[in-house]
Formats: sequence, C-alpha cells, structure tokens
Amino acid sequence: MPDSEAVKEGKLFFERVPMETCGFFLKGASALDWGMKNRLARIFNPQSGRTVMLAIDHGYFQGPTTGLERIDLKIVPLAPEADALMLTRGILRTTIPPMYSKPIVMRASGGPSILKELSNEEIAVDIEDAIRMNVSMLAIQVFIGGEYETRSVHNMTRLVDQGLRYGIPVMAVTAVAKEMVRDARYFRLACRICAELGAHVVKTYYVDEGFDTITASCPVPIVMAGGKKLPELEALTMAFNAVREGAAGVDMGRNIFQSDAPLAMIKTIREVVHHNLKPREALKLYQSLKNVKAISINRK
Ligand code: R5P
Repeated sequence: MPDSEAVKEGKLFFERVPMETCGFFLKGASALDWGMKNRLARIFNPQSGRTVMLAIDHGYFQGPTTGLERIDLKIVPLAPEADALMLTRGILRTTIPPMYSKPIVMRASGGPSILKELSNEEIAVDIEDAIRMNVSMLAIQVFIGGEYETRSVHNMTRLVDQGLRYGIPVMAVTAVAKEMVRDARYFRLACRICAELGAHVVKTYYVDEGFDTITASCPVPIVMAGGKKLPELEALTMAFNAVREGAAGVDMGRNIFQSDAPLAMIKTIREVVHHNLKPREALKLYQSLKNVKAISINRK
C-alpha cells in the first residue's frame, strides 16, 4: 500500500516541473499588488495589452453634454462594447444597470463648473464609496501649469495613497490649462509628473509630432483622450497613430457618442486598438457597420 501511494503522489506533485513565475503585461505595474494587477487586467486586455474605455463623465463639469442627454437610451446599449466605462458615481448609481459586468473607471475629482476656474478641483469621491461600487480604477484631473496646479497634483497623490491602501489603481488625466501649448513638450512634462508622483495610468491627448516621446518617457501606460468631435476618418487615424506610437489604448468620449453611428464607431475603434486595423480599412468597416444598422432600422 505505501508504495502505490508514493507513485500516485509523485504524479500529483510534478516535482521536476518548476512553477512558472508569472510576470505582468503592463508597463510599470510589475511591483504592484495582486488586487491592483487584477483590476488593471480587467481594464487592459492581457492579449493586446490595450483598452478601449468609453468616457461619459463630461457632465461632472459641463452638465448634459451633446450625446449624453439621455445616457439610459444612448449609452447603455453601447456600454457592452467598451472594455471599461469611465463615468461619475451619480450616473453609475442612477443609470447603469448593476448587471453591467465591465470594469468601472470612476471620475473622482470635481468642483468647478465650466463657468469657473476648472483647475480648482477637489477629490469628489470617498474611497469607501468607490469600493462599495466595485470600482476598478479611479480617475482624477491634473492641471500642470494651471492656476491650481499644486492642489490638483496634491489631490492626485492623496487619491493614489488611498487607492494603494485598497488595491485600486489611479488614472491621472492631464487637463490642459488655458494658457498652455498642446505640444509634446508640455505633455511629456505633465505625463511624467503624474507617473513620478504615483499615477498607475495616465490619460493624455494625442499630438501629431512627438507623441512617441511622451509614451517613451512615461513609465506607466498612457491612454489617449479623444478630444473634440472629428470626422470619423480623422478620429480613427488618431487612434491608430496613438497605439502605433506607444499608447496602451484609448479613453474616448465625443468621437464615439457624438458620431452618426456610435455603435459602429466603437466597434471600429476596437478593431483599430486591439488589431491595428489601418485607418482606411477602419473607415470602410465603420461605414459597413453603419449601413447594416441603417438597413435593420428601415426594415422595422
Ligand atoms: C474630460 O474632462 C473628461 O475626462 C473626458 O472623459 C475626456 O476628455 C475624454 O472624453 P473626450 O474623448 O470626449 O475628450
């Protein structure tokens, strides 16, 4: 009996097979704790290393933005196509069905409206409330060069400290102060400051020249913010160029929800971000998806 037990145990223990040391696919994240990595791996696709976040948080400072007047009717049907949904806690609690299973990136700063100085923000969500809402990442605006630069940086560092306590990563959003020039030099400065002071992810705008120097000099993943609505080909080209030049995906709002066909647009952006679909082919895909939708509506 003892002999046969030993043979059986030998098969179970695989003594000669060393256990693999599991690395982590995201830039700058290998020293983070398991919970933090697990949340990041829900937001960023481990196969492509990239994400398509849908940003619908604009109302926190500008009210019912065009395309977001009725989030229940216009955005909820789109949300399953996103890898993550970026929004405020008010919209999450009131409007997003709790059955929604994609990761939530929660806007955690606020204060001034578009009528006031935007950099004068405070932290606007308690970390315990973020935990209660099963948030996967917190997002906070940082105004480098803005009137309340130090306050916004300090908001971010406090949020990073709170997030580290509970395993929730923080994404710094580089908001461009009115008087700043939107060029690679400015965004290198802003992104690097955010990462140096603890942000786990940085969201920033695309620039035509030198975007790759921004991603190269930032030791954490950068996701590209969409910005104002562009013609579809331009938006698809911008997303294509951003990931080619080192972005770990996009966090787009208006270029998706203000598109003529938001569902077709987000599906196409997914192909660009996760499969490097080239802009011209992407536009064809967008148009064909848009036409399918139009045909099915006409048939109803
Ligand atoms: C702006 O303050 C918000 O953080 C938005 O989430 C962000 O700008 C992305 O949205 P959009 O692609 O419309 O610029």
